[in-house]
Amino acid sequence: MTEDKDKKIEMNHDEEQENMEKDEDELKNITQSEENDIIEDNEDDLDDLIDYKKNMIRTMPMIPLRGLSIFPYMVLHFDIGREKSISALEKAMMMNQLVFLSAQKDPETDLPTHDDFYKIGTIAKIKQMLKLPGDAIRVLVEGVSRGEIKDMIFEVPYFKCTVKIINEREFDELSSNVIALMRSTLSNFENYLDLNPKISPDIFPSVASVDQPGRLADVITSHLDIKTEEKQKILEAFDPEDRLEILNDILNRENEILTIEQDINIKVRSQINKSQREYYLREQMRAIQEELGQDEAIEDEIATWMSQLKKLKLAPKISEKVEKEIKRLSKIQPSSAEGGVIRTYVEWILALPWNKSSKGTLDIKNAETILNEDHYGLEKVKDRILEYLAVMKLSKTLKGPIICLVGPPGVGKTSVAKSIARAVNREFVRMSLGGVRDEAEIRGHRRTYIGAIPGRVISAIKEAGTNNPVFLFDEVDKIGNDFRGDPASALLEVLDPEQNKDFVDHYLEIPFDLSKVMFITTANTTETIPRPLLDRMEIIYVPGYTEEEKVKIAEKYLIPKKIKEHGLSEENITISERTIRSIINYYTRESGVRNLERELANLCRKVARRIVEGDATRFRVTAGNLESYLGKKRFRYDIIEGENEIGIATGLAWTVVGGDTLFIETTLIPGTGKLVLTGQLGEVMQESAKAGVSYIRSISKELGIKGDFYKENDLHIHIPEGATPKDGPSAGVTMCTAIISSLTNRAVRKDVAMTGEITLRGKVLPVGGIREKVLAANRAGIKKVLLPAENEVDIEEIPSNVRRKLEFVLIQNVSEALEHALVKIET
Ligand SMILES: Nc1ncnc2c1ncn2[C@@H]1O[C@H](COP(=O)(O)OP(=O)(O)OP(=O)(O)O)[C@@H](O)[C@H]1O
Ligand SMILES: [Mg+2]
Repeated sequence: MTEDKDKKIEMNHDEEQENMEKDEDELKNITQSEENDIIEDNEDDLDDLIDYKKNMIRTMPMIPLRGLSIFPYMVLHFDIGREKSISALEKAMMMNQLVFLSAQKDPETDLPTHDDFYKIGTIAKIKQMLKLPGDAIRVLVEGVSRGEIKDMIFEVPYFKCTVKIINEREFDELSSNVIALMRSTLSNFENYLDLNPKISPDIFPSVASVDQPGRLADVITSHLDIKTEEKQKILEAFDPEDRLEILNDILNRENEILTIEQDINIKVRSQINKSQREYYLREQMRAIQEELGQDEAIEDEIATWMSQLKKLKLAPKISEKVEKEIKRLSKIQPSSAEGGVIRTYVEWILALPWNKSSKGTLDIKNAETILNEDHYGLEKVKDRILEYLAVMKLSKTLKGPIICLVGPPGVGKTSVAKSIARAVNREFVRMSLGGVRDEAEIRGHRRTYIGAIPGRVISAIKEAGTNNPVFLFDEVDKIGNDFRGDPASALLEVLDPEQNKDFVDHYLEIPFDLSKVMFITTANTTETIPRPLLDRMEIIYVPGYTEEEKVKIAEKYLIPKKIKEHGLSEENITISERTIRSIINYYTRESGVRNLERELANLCRKVARRIVEGDATRFRVTAGNLESYLGKKRFRYDIIEGENEIGIATGLAWTVVGGDTLFIETTLIPGTGKLVLTGQLGEVMQESAKAGVSYIRSISKELGIKGDFYKENDLHIHIPEGATPKDGPSAGVTMCTAIISSLTNRAVRKDVAMTGEITLRGKVLPVGGIREKVLAANRAGIKKVLLPAENEVDIEEIPSNVRRKLEFVLIQNVSEALEHALVKIET
């Protein structure tokens, strides 16, 4: 173990003082002995030693110290860790606790030999030992007297040497010379304490009270922050007067050095202070200049804003309010958060088209041309729109109802609205209300919200850049509401001509006139449009298309559009009419033309790629090679193929996505008369099924079935596709037919489809969506359609080419339906 542990830890001067007194006698006894006999170190304790006071030389263990000097009368701790030192310490403890301590010449030497430490050191008594973590030991020692090594007896396992005890000369009376020396030393020391901030000046009184010159020198030296060599010089000065003189020299020199050091420090500090001062001043100046410059910039900005505001020609009240906001900016820190809020606000106000309108010419003839340019068919829709525009032109206001285009997806509602904007020569903006649940989306957040901006209505107006654009609210039927407020009522404020003249966005806090805006809305169904909104709307139904219409739309509009969009030309791609029909029937099943458009885009993409790859430049897409472009056919057109079946009847349904065919399956299973309904049927549909069963039970005799059929059987009704929710009463007659087919074992004709609500008496009531339903029946290849008698008027709505292909039967009650739907029993 060689690491340095011999380190001074602490020195308690009061304790030192006390010990000095206590051990005085003992010390005298040792140090004043005059004889030179060597006292062999043995187990004697110190008391016995006193008996040998005449002997001046003793043997004792020795510990070399690193960077530390010990003087007589001093009490201090240090830690030792080297094996040899510990052995020496242990030996000393076994003997009389006396140990010789001498400083190493070079503290770095780990394994010193007798040449590596000074021959003159201090005999010390070990007062206390404390084991430290690791093998180190902390010892408390008290210096007894100076000593000088005479002989090194052995060096292993510890240093053992013979030590000559150095007698300290005692003064009974001090000569004036010595007194003078002591005083000057003390005053030098006082000076030293002043100059050296590392040593506490509190020690001075106790030092000053020492009356023996030699001891005074020792005590002072022990406090000095000087090199071991210098301390060694003091230790080696046996004569007190000599010692004081040497110490005085050291103190003088140290003081001089400390004074110079202090001077340098002051100079350095003042230099630092000066440059720091300059730095601060310069920083301050820059900040001031910046502020001044910024102020100027802000003044400029405010002036520009003011002039811009004037140009907007707002109502005086509104103008005043905005002016106030602008002026507030000059009063607050421009870089502050509030400054940012005001700036955004003012920028919003100035960016809005308060008085900017597009000069919408309203030439009805021209509008008609444009509507026809953009859309095929839709005659009724176009007529209604033109009428609306004509009224608008005459009354010069828009205070009429708002157009709401209702129809299945992909029939062109959004694109019709866009072409209305084109027809009236105004900007077009669109906002989808699908999933809008938060009122703030429409009306904005108050400015107190961090990062608030106006609602989407005002944002759209800003985007339009004029105050009279055509503004489309898409999907009004999908507006929601929850705890964040009721967006429908906010929307009402926007749409209602009575209210929207002063529409106040929460963010703007000032009214914006929306009365010049031409609002149009779209929806897939009117059912979920909030009532107050619906009341203010003029519903225009945009119906689904027949196959013929779709073909025309594809040929005249979609294909040219797609060819252009894909960077192709007419020569590159030829799509025959038969091909278009194939796409319509085998790749799409929809009321609108969105998927048709998508498939056509798909074709163009494939062709574009082949052209780029250099395969060819002309492509002909035919019904034969269609699969190589679009993949396998996705739908079977001829679903009526196959056998007539017992218990399965074909219904016609009308959903938000248009008309569709519906296959109602029923089966009887042994049971206890339960009615099981599956396929996600809504409440109304379930009730309609129950009504059907009750009716059947009431006429069981006429049908020739057992009156208690329900007692031994469960009746299961299922309507695929199982995962699609279905509702409504219009499947009543179909369900009834399917059940009776099951009970009577008579198959239902595959090519007959029907729709109609039923009563408990078996009467068939009219239903909605006839046009869509019939188109769907036609798409499915149905030959005969059974409709409620009261729906006769709706047959006119059906495109004539479809009407020609189908046979319509108007029915009053269920038995008439059965007559046409059930397979005749051959007798
Ligand atoms: N009669 C038509 N003539 C020409 N193109 C049409 C016609 N009807 C629809 N389209 C085209 O069909 C595509 C789909 O139309 P659009 O997006 O307007 O449907 P939508 O009724 O708004 O559907 P959704 O209810 O899903 O929003 C558009 O590219 C549109 O131009
Ligand atoms: Mg749309």
